[in-house]
Amino acid sequence: MRIAMIGTGYVGLVSGTCFSEFGIDVVCVDKDAAKIEKLHQNIMPIYEPGLDDMVAANVEAGRLSFTTDLKEAVKDADAVFIAVGTPSRRGDGHADLSYVYAAAEEIADSMTGYTVVVTKSTVPVGTGDEVERIIRARRPDAQFDVVSNPEFLREGSAINDFMRPDRVVIGTESEKARKVMKQLYRVLYLIETPIAFTSRRTSELIKYAGNTFLATKITFINEIADLCEKVGADVHDVAKGIGLDGRIGKKFLHPGPGYGGSCFPKDTLALVKTARDYNAPLRIVETVVAVNEARKKQMAERVIAACGGSVKGKTISVLGLTFKPNTDDMRDSPSIDIVSALIEAGATVKAFDPEGMEEAKKLLPAAVEYCKDAYATMPGAHCAVIITEWNEFRALDLKKVKSLLAQPSIVDLRNVYVPEEMAELGFAYSSIGRP
Ligand code: UDX
Repeated sequence: MRIAMIGTGYVGLVSGTCFSEFGIDVVCVDKDAAKIEKLHQNIMPIYEPGLDDMVAANVEAGRLSFTTDLKEAVKDADAVFIAVGTPSRRGDGHADLSYVYAAAEEIADSMTGYTVVVTKSTVPVGTGDEVERIIRARRPDAQFDVVSNPEFLREGSAINDFMRPDRVVIGTESEKARKVMKQLYRVLYLIETPIAFTSRRTSELIKYAGNTFLATKITFINEIADLCEKVGADVHDVAKGIGLDGRIGKKFLHPGPGYGGSCFPKDTLALVKTARDYNAPLRIVETVVAVNEARKKQMAERVIAACGGSVKGKTISVLGLTFKPNTDDMRDSPSIDIVSALIEAGATVKAFDPEGMEEAKKLLPAAVEYCKDAYATMPGAHCAVIITEWNEFRALDLKKVKSLLAQPSIVDLRNVYVPEEMAELGFAYSSIGRP
């Protein structure tokens, strides 16, 4: 089997590499020549644990290669995956499909023989129909099927998520295309991964409904956390107590500063738009989007409260900037709202993140001072705020922290420390949803 993967972003690069690990010949294509050149030197465009080693091993084995030449890559491929970006469109929040459609046109011009065209990018319901129409219009003679095969990869554990997924969803009515897809995922059949075959539109919706449900779950526990603070309950015990009910499940009930990242904010918004377009509004999701947006800003108010009601002229130590640990991704990270609000309120912000500072410089206010490690953010600071739960922030030398800070105050937006222990050490400690 031979496949072409169009787009070497997060999804394309991980998926292409993992398919080659399955023993399939993979050519990854990108228009960005500099990116391809770097990949030739085994320099990854993203930070993902284990990816560079897996890329190197498969390149070495001759199963994985990188090119800017789409035509050559697509020519004899059994399947061509579209894994280009679908960002939120400026202005209206719909997914921007211009990259997907441009890829469809180029694929149409290059394919030979029967080809399965697979949309891996997250695309709104009906996009597969449009991709099919575009290809058919340019190549009335071509033999092809368009399949939806969404990804469910989490940044930081994307390789494991691809190699050992909870399920694979394949949307197509074509028996011929199913056969090709089954062949591509043969290794997962061997480990008895559930593979759901659906219609193309259903598959497209599964991706959005899944991410939206998870975003709802997080937002639910975040609001329960706020209630816990008011009534003197512990949100972790509530989460455990409800999560033991198999119908609810214990995952994705960790409270925090609000969800961020490249998927949840964009996908919730896009689904809300689609639902409105079809006159079937998703009012729950609309509320989730609004609550999550407001929450990120409210987090800055917690810090201001911890500093006695004002941060004007005060220094705040910020630990963690990325939207979650083990990634350098800053997209829609809660830190953007929190840090911006603190600076607007007159604070000096000194920040450290183990991987995300280069990306952060592009998105955070220019006034942020970046430090070489966690402790370097602290001398003279009136409060330390943990925004991202990187492991190294779980194991801080708290005596040292106390000696460095101007006042021993920690706002822990990820609940990585135990309130009683912090009190014993003499910290004013504020966390989420705990007495
Ligand atoms: C998500 C989906 O999990 C994945 O299936 C999809 O393909 C892409 O989007 P990802 O964006 O990498 O993956 O991050 P994820 O680990 O799901 O976390 C998303 C956000 O929710 C983060 O900001 C995280 O901090 C937050 N979160 C997650 C919580 O606040 N609480 C939780 O219990 C879980």
